[in-house]
Amino acid sequence: DRRIWITRHGESTDNTLGRIGGDSSLSERGRKFAACLTKFIKMQKDLFRQKQLEKYREELKEEKKRYLNFSSSEPEPPERNFLVWTSMLKRTIETVEKFDSKEFDVMHIRFLNEIYAGACEEMTYQQIEEEYPEEYAARKSNKLYYRYPGMGESYLDVIHRVNPLIIELERMTDNILIVTHRVVLRIVLAYFSDVEKEKVPHMDVPLHTVYCLQPKAYGTELLKWVWDE
Ligand code: G3H
Repeated sequence: DRRIWITRHGESTDNTLGRIGGDSSLSERGRKFAACLTKFIKMQKDLFRQKQLEKYREELKEEKKRYLNFSSSEPEPPERNFLVWTSMLKRTIETVEKFDSKEFDVMHIRFLNEIYAGACEEMTYQQIEEEYPEEYAARKSNKLYYRYPGMGESYLDVIHRVNPLIIELERMTDNILIVTHRVVLRIVLAYFSDVEKEKVPHMDVPLHTVYCLQPKAYGTELLKWVWDE
């Protein structure tokens, strides 16, 4: 069973200041998370391969038992590709920069970028409340439909932008790690866990938490790994 791993970037310097949007780098703590994530996903990849080989050897043994000690010369199954997708923003790219390119196919995709907050980019929520009180109130009353001023996006806009990637995720059979942002993570998790649209903007998806999705015939199994140094 292939797996979809998904997480937010490591803590950024803007996160430490409470600013939204922007394109800041990782903080010291964010870099530590990135280093641990790199090792953790490598361990998961190796474990997955080991289990795949054990299953294959078990099947060979069964075959031999069944066929009077005859066994076929079936080659070992090839190892599955392991993809790593990030957004085009520094904080996600830096989170995966130590992944070994011989083992992981790393790609940076604009569709995985954070919601664009337009005129409110790089502001704190408190600054938005002070400078644009009406905008702040409008978003609070309907976070799903609210679109930031100055060519900004709404949750619905991001849902539409992320949709082709979700279709691709459904279709493919590779293992994958997605390193993205709060809004996109909420949308992907909601899709696979059948959360209603209205609840998406309010889902709790903290930093430094890695989700593992295992799509099955009857639904998706979800496991959460929390990194807390
Ligand atoms: O930078 C944007 C924030 O991560 C979005 O979070 O939709 O809960 O305000 P929010």
